[in-house]
Amino acid sequence: MTEMITAERVGKVYRGGVPALTDVSLTVRAGELVAIVGPSGSGKSTLLHLMGTLDKPTSGVIRLLGHDVAAVRDRTLAAMRAHWIGFVFQQFFLGATLSAVDNVAAGLMYAGVPHRRRRERAAEVLDRVGLGHRLDHRPARMSGGERQRVAIARALVAGPAIVLADEPTGNLDTASGAVVLDLLHRLNREGTTIVVITHDTEVAERLPRRIRVRDGAVVGDSAVGAR
Ligand SMILES: Nc1ncnc2c1ncn2[C@@H]1O[C@H](COP(=O)(O)OP(=O)(O)OP(=O)(O)O)[C@@H](O)[C@H]1O
Ligand SMILES: [Mg+2]
Repeated sequence: MTEMITAERVGKVYRGGVPALTDVSLTVRAGELVAIVGPSGSGKSTLLHLMGTLDKPTSGVIRLLGHDVAAVRDRTLAAMRAHWIGFVFQQFFLGATLSAVDNVAAGLMYAGVPHRRRRERAAEVLDRVGLGHRLDHRPARMSGGERQRVAIARALVAGPAIVLADEPTGNLDTASGAVVLDLLHRLNREGTTIVVITHDTEVAERLPRRIRVRDGAVVGDSAVGAR
């Protein structure tokens, strides 16, 4: 299977000398639905930022669809990120003054899609996440679960190769969280590769592959057995 994202002996030390990741190696392949699970402060978000090319490792190599991201110019990397990766965050990060459809259409800003087509595409994807009846609602008039589904639609609208989600159910009650997880499962069955970061072992247990992180290191990967 195609290697979507690979980390090879990746380390990250933040300014001030805080070691957040040490010697992390992992591969996410096309079609996978992976949980990266670990306690608070274990380095999960750091790892997601590196996998998503939002930040650079201090040591080791990150490959995005086979490309060593350190060898790519910043502008090219930004284009690769926009084409290949969709991000979902715990806090949704929706524009408060924008309707659902305009929030999702914003995900096409860098995809070279003509303005008119953007809202059409956005409406199609909102329909796909079950929000075809909420196109004109602003975030303040939606539930938490609906807001996160708008954020997921925005992550999907440019047709990414992979979706990286950092605690996508972290701000949701159990029922809304279950709806979001069901949606991620369905999108994965429909072909999207997805990585979900979570500190919640119950959420992780529902996903087919679990990579366990502790103190900045991978301490287990259900795809390769215990280490
Ligand atoms: N920008 C930063 N500068 C310095 N240290 C940081 C920075 N971001 C994170 N850290 C530190 O790196 C370590 C890993 O943080 P990270 O945010 O990756 O953890 P996490 O597993 O996502 O935690 P949580 O579940 O609480 O979100 C922590 O010790 C944290 O304090
Ligand atoms: Mg985090």
